[in-house]
Amino acid sequence: MAKTKTVYRCQECGRVELKWLGQCPTCQTWDSFAQELEEPRAKPGLPAPSPSKPVSLAEVSGMDGDRRTTGSVELDRVLGGGVRGGMVVLVGGDPGIGKSTLMLQCLGHLASVDPPVLYLSGEESARQLKLRASRLKIGGKGAEGILLHTETTLERILPWVDQIRPKAVVVDSIQTFQTERVNSAPGSLVQVRESTARFSRLAKERNIPLFLVGHVTKSGALAGPKMVEHMVDTVLYFEGRESQGYRILRAVKNRFGSTNEIGVFEMTGLGLREVENPSALFLSERPLDQPGSVVVPCLEGTRPILVEIQALVTPTPFSQPKRTSLGVDSGRVSLLAAVLEKKLGLSLSGQDIYLNVAGGVRVVEPGADLGVALALASSLLDRVVDSKTVLLGEVGLAGEVRNVPRPELRLAEAAKLGFERAIVPQRAARGGAKAAKGLELMGVEYLKEAIRKGLGKG
Ligand code: TYD
Ligand code: MG
Repeated sequence: MAKTKTVYRCQECGRVELKWLGQCPTCQTWDSFAQELEEPRAKPGLPAPSPSKPVSLAEVSGMDGDRRTTGSVELDRVLGGGVRGGMVVLVGGDPGIGKSTLMLQCLGHLASVDPPVLYLSGEESARQLKLRASRLKIGGKGAEGILLHTETTLERILPWVDQIRPKAVVVDSIQTFQTERVNSAPGSLVQVRESTARFSRLAKERNIPLFLVGHVTKSGALAGPKMVEHMVDTVLYFEGRESQGYRILRAVKNRFGSTNEIGVFEMTGLGLREVENPSALFLSERPLDQPGSVVVPCLEGTRPILVEIQALVTPTPFSQPKRTSLGVDSGRVSLLAAVLEKKLGLSLSGQDIYLNVAGGVRVVEPGADLGVALALASSLLDRVVDSKTVLLGEVGLAGEVRNVPRPELRLAEAAKLGFERAIVPQRAARGGAKAAKGLELMGVEYLKEAIRKGLGKG
């Protein structure tokens, strides 16, 4: 039998060394080497063929057949239409955001349809989970079908999985589990990676959906190596500001559907509730007719969502003006401020700029440029953008307003929510008039025109 020996592997790039190093020579990461058992080397010569043989594409059965709903329209959408056998989903988010609640609600539904399901908890006791389940009103068939296990060593869990044959598994959280194969503490890079690999294999072999819960570090990345994200099919992030009741679930990777889909939930006394109309929620506290406040129809995946962008521009008391932006990329804001300064002669260099997307939403698309630019101009000039107007368009460095993807979808959402006018790129105005019933479209070619139309005379 071949002898196993230990090696040191960089947890970021995978470089293998026989001795521990402080810094990886390949990827320059510090303190990334961890001890591992090296797999015994295969005997020289041609290895035996694997027991499963290659199959033709035509022989593989269709995939959409075994989609199952999780009982939540929002979660289904983010997953790309529900769960399927063999799917490995990583659910990341800050502690306390509601990951365990979401998982328990999802399992409650899956268990009521197709029991049993298995909840592996390394963080909470069975009693705590029971308490939560009763708050969530998970009872009857749902409660009978959920099996809880608070063991955290993989080798001791797997025999139970064989016996129970669960139809879905939740691992909460992956940072608390360990395998005896590697010799380091739970939560370390090696353990997280190795446990993820073992759990994923389990999901694929048994053709069951598997959810891995993961904590997020201060810097916003999932704790554990980036590698874990590559090892799973779908990565979901659960976000939201603590002070606000609602939460946004976002897909950042999805082998089975589109990314950038979002699901919106509200945390209530009875667990997470789906928000059917997020636009109305995000706009519900909007101050009407205030300078600096504008509404932008954004697109999150396939779904149009209206958000309020607020700007506050005030003369700076500092030698270096402050630029603070929440929810919009700060580079984008600086760019738009520069365009306003150069192309419209608006003096922003002596001003502090604060920008905020109300409700803790993150806007990542350039389609919100026109909104950001008008919010800045509106606050600086103390002139109001009419509260029944939405703004849409990307702004280029020459001050031109460019078209954005799917304008008709966004404008339809604005019309549905009672908006009456939209300032849009010229091309969208020509093409989108039909879709936007009851919405007056004002096409603009340059930012200057948009400001004239949006801010009027003051
Ligand atoms: P939890 O799911 O434990 O978060 P995570 O697993 O991401 O750490 O949820 C945490 C918060 O949610 C907790 O502060 C309590 C709150 N909560 C409610 O407001 N209502 C509820 O019905 C439940 C179960 C939790
Ligand atoms: Mg939890």
